[in-house]
Order: sequence, then structure tokens, then C-alpha cells
Amino acid sequence: GTTLGASAAEKGRYFGTAVAANKLSDSTYVGILNREFNSVTAENEMKWDATEPSQNQFNYANADRIVNSARANGQQVRGHALAWHSQQPGWAQNMSGTALRNAMLNHVTQVATYYRGKISAWDVVNEAFADGGGGGRRDSNLQRTGNDWIEAAFRAARAADPGAKLCYNDYNTDGQNAKSNAVYAMVQDFRSRGVPIDCVGFQSHFNAQSPVPNDYQANLQRFANLGVDVQITELDIEGSGTTQANNFGRVVQACLAVTRCTGITVWGIRDTDSWRASGTPLLFDGSGNKKAAYTSTLNALNSG
Ligand code: G3I
Repeated sequence: GTTLGASAAEKGRYFGTAVAANKLSDSTYVGILNREFNSVTAENEMKWDATEPSQNQFNYANADRIVNSARANGQQVRGHALAWHSQQPGWAQNMSGTALRNAMLNHVTQVATYYRGKISAWDVVNEAFADGGGGGRRDSNLQRTGNDWIEAAFRAARAADPGAKLCYNDYNTDGQNAKSNAVYAMVQDFRSRGVPIDCVGFQSHFNAQSPVPNDYQANLQRFANLGVDVQITELDIEGSGTTQANNFGRVVQACLAVTRCTGITVWGIRDTDSWRASGTPLLFDGSGNKKAAYTSTLNALNSG
């Protein structure tokens, strides 16, 4: 293939990017988006604060701009994210107990129902595990409603959109460590008890402090062996030149080596679109030119 999306499709995968609705009027951005990618994730527009700014008052305007653009251009849509401790609307942030549990479940049900049939995979729950060596859940208002909040969210999402793959998504779970072991145990438990989970997302935000792990492929494979798909959901890699290019190539090779790794999403198009305030972690430079990282990504998709 000659584009990321076409090359991934030849391998039975997708290649996606995060999209910001306010950039859909930027012709350079849109030109790359619709040339290179066959999947999109709303960078912020489907989050709780964006879609339910007041309780039970839903606003899908910006998310719809992304979904409509994607559908018009033959791109899948990953939904991100239904239940998360961060980017909650103000009204939810200080809620607790049964009221918060019910508000969260209503949110999951309403948003997944609104987009039923249009979402390839939902990040149903995002970033629910703590960093560090403890291997526990992250403390949050959602966690304090009871340890079963995650499975409750997955059951609500399945009921609302039975056709969407339902994912758990997190960062610093890309290699084998206490955090990914804890997520692994949860997925294993969900599978054994019939809690509906279809996929695990590995965000894969890499930099000098958090490089591409040497056991990246092995970690993806052990999750796949639980009977779920795995997806690389928010890929970016700090750096430049040959080193960065090689790292992108390694990530693509790892995914292609795992049969159930169904696709890769980069977290933005140009370096200047990245959430990282300074840095050059993406595949296109600020002018929209292909970087060495782009070429190595494309070559890796086309090899083997
Ligand atoms: O829209 C407002 C704007 O009105 C306001 O003037 C401005 C001032 O700060 O803020 C704007 O909102 C910002 C929003 O991005 C849109 O640009 C928020 O402050 C800012 O916090 C938000 O950052 C996003 C971040 O998630 C929030 O947690 C990033 O764009 C987004 O890339 C990032 O994505 C996350 C994934 O969802 C989950 N995994 C980690 C990843 C990177 O942090």
C-alpha cells in the first residue's frame, strides 16, 4: 500500500488517528486525515464533559462533526471514552455513591445508544488502575462507588450497542508490570464470569522515561491469549530522526506479529496537533510533511 490505512487494510487491520473537531476546517489537516487513515478517535469530543455538560442534557454537536466526517470518508470510529475519572463535567465531579453510579450508567447507556451501529469499538472504561507497583485500582469518585463499577459499565454498554467491541483502555500497561498484571487479572476474571469485554487498548504514549518496552509484543500476546482483541489506541513516541523512526517500526511489527492486534491509532496527525505541549511525537511535521517516522511506519506495515 501507499498510505497507512491501505497498507494496514492489506494486513487485515486499521490505521487510525485522534481527530479534533475544530481542525476539520484546516485543509492541510483534512487532506492528510482522509488520505492516510481509515479509523478515527475523537480526541476530546466524546468524553463525559463534552457530551453531558449538564446532567441528562446531551450535546453531540462536536462529536457528530467527527463521526459524520468519518462516515463520509469511509473511516471507522473508535469511541473514547464512556467512563473515566478525568474530564468529568463539573456536576459529576463531586457526586458519590448511588447517585454517581446511576449517573455514570445513564451516561454510558445514553451515549452508546445514540451512537449505536456507528462505533467499531468503545473505550468503555479508561485508566481505572493506579500507577506504581501496587497493582490496585486508581482511587476516584467512580471507584468509591464500588469495585464492580467497571463491569457495570461494560454491561450497560453491551446492552446499549451490542455491535460495538467493548474495550478497557489504559497507559503504562504496554509492557508486563504490576499495573498491566492487574488489568490482565481483571480481564481474565471478566472472561471467566461472562462480563462483556472484547478488547484491551494499550495507549502507548512513549518517551525517554517510558520507552517502547522490550516485552511489548509478549504483553500484547498474553492479553490476546485471554480471548480478547488488542489495539494500540493512542500511539505517540517522543524523539526524532532514525531513533524515533525505528521505534515506530518496532511498534507496528509487534502489532502485526499478534494475530488479534486489530489496529493502531496515533494520537494526532502533525507534531503541532499533539497533546504534548512541546515535542515531536507524531508522523507528520508541523507543515504536514511526512517524517522518517512515517516512512518506517509505512514500511513496517508493508513488510512481512
Ligand atoms: O476546549 C477548552 C478551551 O475552551 C479552553 O480555552 C482551553 C484552556 O485550557 O481548554 C480547552 O480544553 C482542553 C482540551 O484538551 C481541548 O483542547 C483541556 O484544557 C485539556 O485538558 C484537554 O487535554 C486533553 C487531555 O486528554 C485531557 O485529559 C488532550 O487534548 C487529549 O489529547 C488528552 O488525551 C488523553 C486521552 O483522552 C486519554 N489518554 C491520555 C491522553 C493524553 O493525555
